[in-house]
Amino acid sequence: MDEDGFAELLMSEDRKKWQNPRDILLQIGDFKETTIADLACGPGFFTIPLANMIDESSKIYAVDHSSTMLKHLKTNLERSVPADSLKHVSIIDADVTNTTIPDHSIDIAIFANVLHDLDDPKLFFDELKRISSTNCRVVDIDWHKQRVDDMGPPPEIRLSENDSRTLLNQNGYYVVHALNAGQYHYGLVCRRNS
Ligand SMILES: C[S@@+](CC[C@H](N)C(=O)[O-])C[C@H]1O[C@@H](n2cnc3c(N)ncnc32)[C@H](O)[C@@H]1O
Repeated sequence: MDEDGFAELLMSEDRKKWQNPRDILLQIGDFKETTIADLACGPGFFTIPLANMIDESSKIYAVDHSSTMLKHLKTNLERSVPADSLKHVSIIDADVTNTTIPDHSIDIAIFANVLHDLDDPKLFFDELKRISSTNCRVVDIDWHKQRVDDMGPPPEIRLSENDSRTLLNQNGYYVVHALNAGQYHYGLVCRRNS
């Protein structure tokens, strides 16, 4: 499958049946007066509902290193988000380990389906620390280790929920609560140890 096809698959109606992004986001809280980073946002599976949940005091940084994914993100945002909200979304073409997000500006950082894919998670966590505000919550959503229904990445590259908890702990985060992220995924909301 090429990247355009993958971007379409990520936004498919079928996916929304087994993983509803709005239902997941509602478990995190509200997004009023909140600065959010969607790190490795892809074509906007979480960015689009987020952009429809923020208020005029909120801001979203949507980061991805793929120009194809960002092309789809722009089209999807223009199609599904009112202009008033759209102006609060900044698209950043960058690696998640080296973004242009201002220091200590982020209240909620979401990274979905990407931690298992990073060559050096330490660099990612260093960047996360740089961009996070003091009370920042970070949200890790990823595939369960066991592959079911022939979907998602190969099991050998996946991180189990325990692997992710360990990685988060090693990088200074503790899990505050788990999310219902659909039958194929786990979701972890974390804060940084002081
Ligand atoms: C499986 S998609 C997930 C997209 C979205 N978070 C979702 O759940 O639908 C993974 C995304 O991560 C992006 N990505 C992977 N590694 C990255 C990196 N080091 N920096 C920025 N983006 C990255 C890819 O381009 C792709 O858009």
